[in-house]
Amino acid sequence: MTQDGRDRSPPAPLATGETLIEAAQHTASGASTVPQTLDALRLRSAFGLFPTGVAVVTARGSDGARLGMTINSLSSLSLDPALLTWNIARRSRNHEVFTRARHFAIHVLGQDQAALCKAFVMTDQDRFGQIATTDSVEGVPLIPGCLARFECRTHQLVEGGDHTLVVGQVLRIAEQPGQPLVFFRGQLGQLAPRD
Ligand SMILES: Cc1cc2nc3c(=O)[nH]c(=O)nc-3n(C[C@H](O)[C@H](O)[C@H](O)COP(=O)(O)O)c2cc1C
Repeated sequence: MTQDGRDRSPPAPLATGETLIEAAQHTASGASTVPQTLDALRLRSAFGLFPTGVAVVTARGSDGARLGMTINSLSSLSLDPALLTWNIARRSRNHEVFTRARHFAIHVLGQDQAALCKAFVMTDQDRFGQIATTDSVEGVPLIPGCLARFECRTHQLVEGGDHTLVVGQVLRIAEQPGQPLVFFRGQLGQLAPRD
């Protein structure tokens, strides 16, 4: 340990084929102490090695408009109480409306719903298009035909760097049989059975 409290012990040896990229540690003059530093692109690419499902989160704005956005940051949080989390980029045009919404719904997409995933990232057109939604008890637009749906009340917001973590209390769930749409290395895919 050095005077500034940082651990300068050498990194663990690398396995064959492994690449190590360190987070920048700056000297007093501001110079980086490591030759190849972690940047946002590399970090995003490493995060992308964790396969996830894909979901569309919906809510209704205070003006009554339907809001929807594709996410893969869904995570289960707690069984009792029933809580889940997802997060939204602070720079998202929908950040304010989603973080103000008192209720929202998460729709887990099935493997045949890649078109929905793509529709809900569009910036230049109505994301709902021809999708006929129904309203939840609280007026949240619900998309039919998804693998799972979680209707939630916004329980807590936690600021986390350039994103806001939304904690939702699960009020109702719906499920139907099927296989999930998968997101891995920045691409959509589906599960393959093991031999
Ligand atoms: C597979 C996938 C997962 C995504 N996950 C998230 C997410 O968890 N949080 C988020 O803020 N944006 C996520 N995005 C990006 C948003 O969908 C995208 O920023 C948004 O739809 C663009 O419009 P905006 O201005 O409303 O952000 C994801 C995009 C894709 C394709």
